[in-house]
Amino acid sequence: MKNGKIWLSMLLIAAATFPAFAQVLEKKDSVSSIPSSVMQLIKPACMTCHSDQGRDKPKNAVNFSTWDQYRPVEKKFIAGSIVSELTKESMPPKRYLQVHPEAALTAEQIKTLIQWCDSIRTK
Ligand code: HEC
Repeated sequence: MKNGKIWLSMLLIAAATFPAFAQVLEKKDSVSSIPSSVMQLIKPACMTCHSDQGRDKPKNAVNFSTWDQYRPVEKKFIAGSIVSELTKESMPPKRYLQVHPEAALTAEQIKTLIQWCDSIRTK
């Protein structure tokens, strides 16, 4: 009897959280306009901070999880800001690279990202 109640409440919780799961999946889909060659670089180098998993500050500056929800003018502005950060080598932050050297980008990878940004800026 007691067990039955527990199962019932678990079922209700599962039902209540399902829409949230569906939303997460939808959000993941919305990342798809970022080419996989770029995704593969920004996932380890940027998305710990600049995604739904990140803290508010970096997330509010750039959120790659919800990239497709930016308006074209916002995308252009952010692309410009990404180029500027990459050129100055201020992203990923130096103090972060000290702890996570695996997040560092090679010159070639930075070039790939800048090319992607330029393609957005000239769209
Ligand atoms: C360890 C967390 C972290 C990582 C990793 C990281 N950033 Fe950031 N980023 C931040 C924070 C925090 C800010 C907030 C602004 C600041 O520092 O003043 C920021 C700001 C920015 C901004 C806005 C700058 C401005 O002045 O408007 C851009 C663009 C940016 N990051 C791009 C990137 C890119 C591209 C990568 C990957 C190559 C990256 N970031 C990796 C933490 C991170």
